[in-house]
Amino acid sequence: MAETLHIDRAVGKAEKYQSLLPQIEALINGEKDQTANLANISAVLHDAFGWWWVGFYLVRNDELVLGPFQGPVACTRIRKGKGVCGIAWFKAKSILVPDVEQFSGHIACSSLSVSEIVVPLFNHQGIVAGVLDIDSERYDVLDETDVHYLEQLSEIIRKQDLL
Ligand code: SME
Repeated sequence: MAETLHIDRAVGKAEKYQSLLPQIEALINGEKDQTANLANISAVLHDAFGWWWVGFYLVRNDELVLGPFQGPVACTRIRKGKGVCGIAWFKAKSILVPDVEQFSGHIACSSLSVSEIVVPLFNHQGIVAGVLDIDSERYDVLDETDVHYLEQLSEIIRKQDLL
């Protein structure tokens, strides 16, 4: 297992993802423990991109429950269809929120978070088993490029059968 990652901080966002995704795949390959792998993935993304909050919510019965994350303390439980996370779960679709004030029903875990992306995570049956949530304290950093590559990351996680 590769435990040291190479993060070139001088390159653009797309290039950074192209370098990081294979490294993340190598990092979690061969390790079946869900907590260990999701914790490392959140650490890589937080370190590489400097986002305010990066973490996972996992489906537990009829709720999302907070999983491994990097950043400040967050809400522990989110109902299906509630908040950006619960809606991404309900719709099984990624949601990009450039300004959380403009998103009806957004759940504010931190008043400093102003923009957000939530990407669903699927299990082998194609059912949403969790979401990846990323928050920024800036308006201009999260965009469709992130959605594109984070959906690739979601597929890497699905292939590893972690959920
Ligand atoms: N803002 C999210 C809640 C989770 S925190 O951002 C970590 C939402 O509306 O679902």
